[in-house]
Amino acid sequence: MKIDILTLFPEMFAPLKESIIKRAVEDKKVEINIINIRDFANPPHYKCDDEPFGGGAGMVMLCEPLFKAIESVKTENSSIFYMSPRGKVFKQEIAREMSKLEHIILLCGHYEGIDQRVIDYFDIQELSIGDYVLTGGELAAMVVADSIIRLIPNVIRAESTVEESFSTNLLEYNQYTRPAEYRGMKVPDVLLSGHHKNIENWRKEQSLEITKRNRPDLLDKYKKKN
Ligand SMILES: C[S@@+](CC[C@H](N)C(=O)[O-])C[C@H]1O[C@@H](n2cnc3c(N)ncnc32)[C@H](O)[C@@H]1O
Repeated sequence: MKIDILTLFPEMFAPLKESIIKRAVEDKKVEINIINIRDFANPPHYKCDDEPFGGGAGMVMLCEPLFKAIESVKTENSSIFYMSPRGKVFKQEIAREMSKLEHIILLCGHYEGIDQRVIDYFDIQELSIGDYVLTGGELAAMVVADSIIRLIPNVIRAESTVEESFSTNLLEYNQYTRPAEYRGMKVPDVLLSGHHKNIENWRKEQSLEITKRNRPDLLDKYKKKN
């Protein structure tokens, strides 16, 4: 998979050079390119934004550098997403679908956003990471990229992505590791019992309880399916 991220702030993407994502890049499971939209703006000022037609606060990102930046990477196999609070809300099931794509272009807005003609011309899908407004699309693009990359086969162990929050509309059970007792707090006995069926049952109960408490909306979906 190839992910091209178009941004006015390439320095913000240092987190994608760490940990599991770094290893996925080194193992050639994914290629990530951070492309500076300003490189496609016109000299001498390399201006990338202007005031909105119709008035109002803030600035809007210009068509010209965005068109050129997109055209520099787009092929017939590209899927383009604009990080936007107006977009469809990003969920694990969308991450799963996106992890099968060949080439993803993530477009980061800033200021008041981008000229609508960019979205219309390239038939871009808008993707939101939640019901709040960020200063720019960079953090959103990192969230989307990270969650997609970990779902690419062999980036992490397949079992880890099968039994985790959202995989069955339930949230994950509580996890514990050594030592078995810390500051007087004991790990539940069942996890030390070696009895696989009992452990499985305990985890299921935990998942149901945590989902009921934190995400009753998911529990309803789970119940409908099971
Ligand atoms: C200040 S926001 C613009 C908000 C826009 N004026 C609106 O009201 O919908 C600047 C940029 O941050 C990004 N952004 C903000 N919130 C986001 C979210 N929840 N999900 C994805 N991207 C977001 C978008 O790329 C957006 O163009």
